[in-house]
Amino acid sequence: MAAAEGPSFWLGNETLKVPVALFALNRRRLCERLRQNKDVQKNSIVLLQGGEETQRYCTDTGILFRQESYFHWTFGVTEAGCFGAVDVDTGRSMLFVPQLPESYAVWMGKFNVNNKILHPEIAECRVIKTDMELEVLRYTNKISSEAHKEVMKAVKVGMKEYELESLFQHYCYARGGMRHTSYTCICGSGENSSVLHYGHAGAPNDKTIEDGDLCLFDMGGEYYCYSSDITCTFPANGKFTADQRAIYEAVLKASRAVMAAIKPGVAWPDMHRLADRVHLEELTRIGILQGSVDDMVKVHLGAVFMPHGLGHLLGIDVHDVGGYPEGVERAEEPGLCSLRTARRLQPGMVLTVEPGIYFIQPLLEQALHDPARACFINRDVLQRFRAFGGVRIEDDVVVTATGVELLTCVPRTVQEIEAFMAEGQGSAKSFGCLSSQKQ
Ligand code: GLY
Ligand code: MN
Ligand code: MN
Repeated sequence: MAAAEGPSFWLGNETLKVPVALFALNRRRLCERLRQNKDVQKNSIVLLQGGEETQRYCTDTGILFRQESYFHWTFGVTEAGCFGAVDVDTGRSMLFVPQLPESYAVWMGKFNVNNKILHPEIAECRVIKTDMELEVLRYTNKISSEAHKEVMKAVKVGMKEYELESLFQHYCYARGGMRHTSYTCICGSGENSSVLHYGHAGAPNDKTIEDGDLCLFDMGGEYYCYSSDITCTFPANGKFTADQRAIYEAVLKASRAVMAAIKPGVAWPDMHRLADRVHLEELTRIGILQGSVDDMVKVHLGAVFMPHGLGHLLGIDVHDVGGYPEGVERAEEPGLCSLRTARRLQPGMVLTVEPGIYFIQPLLEQALHDPARACFINRDVLQRFRAFGGVRIEDDVVVTATGVELLTCVPRTVQEIEAFMAEGQGSAKSFGCLSSQKQ
């Protein structure tokens, strides 16, 4: 990226220079919105409190600080304990850092845009990314994609899952200046690949990776509070079995069908339904399911294999501005409504596309005990997949005027993955890098 004009955030070396003008533009957009809001009086001041540093329980050991997201979007300040004010009429802003005398709190007296108005208004601005924000998200995706590739090159049967988590974090920090990851790394191998939130403190990526395991690694680096969220699924030994390939290609087909369909005006729940339909068609072709796909859709059979939403907004937070909005998880269509307000897509939205097929024992048992769904399942074929785990393919995209820009750039087809893992770095150039393609 060309050197940014004016003050910027930069961690040196090859890391991205982010102009702090990004936040001046954010504040201008916010003020414009607030001036159009009839509930916001003249002479209003926005006052936001930044995040505060915390300690581990009753100790003096600090927990690594990360700025509060609304405050970061508005001011781009990395330090803890700040307040920031913006005069809505003039756009003039002030920052109150901890050392300033108490008397500055006089600003509090003019505060009359309450959080009930303020947070939703900022959230609305955050849904659509500016070009400067997109530049940062391109960077977080580029570095995180490279880190995933490092992991794919390094993985060996016999390693612990956390060794790969550690390698990903090291690459992101050492090469990309990313001190934080956007969320706790999910590094599931074998059956753990079907545990959606694997990697938490109770299951800390500590299994030994075995021959024949699929690895589902969901990891994203964060730079200057901007996120990435990428999942790669690949065989630990570098070669897909026939069944692994069949399920992987079913998920990839859903991913690519969704990406081809995304454009402004599209409703996100329709994208979820599209992914479900592709999965059901492919599971039928594989022989796990039987019967009419239209009838399967009526009983929401897709949710047995993909119990989560197809994707979410991405930005300063990994599930940006709440990501999972009001009316989430409609009981009759689980996981369907996971994009904020389930609104129609607009240019400048950044979201994840993350279809998956998982063989999750309790969900399979429930379906097998429900005659309305069990009638579609071929138990003999399913038996072969009981210990399969799962496949997720997660990419980050920007909605453009005509389609999508794919931000993530990792080997995706079976051929690309097998060639990349076999040849290591040398083959990095041999797969079609899509990151610069704008569809
Ligand atoms: N890694 C969190 C998610 O995929 O939503
Ligand atoms: Mn993810
Ligand atoms: Mn995600």
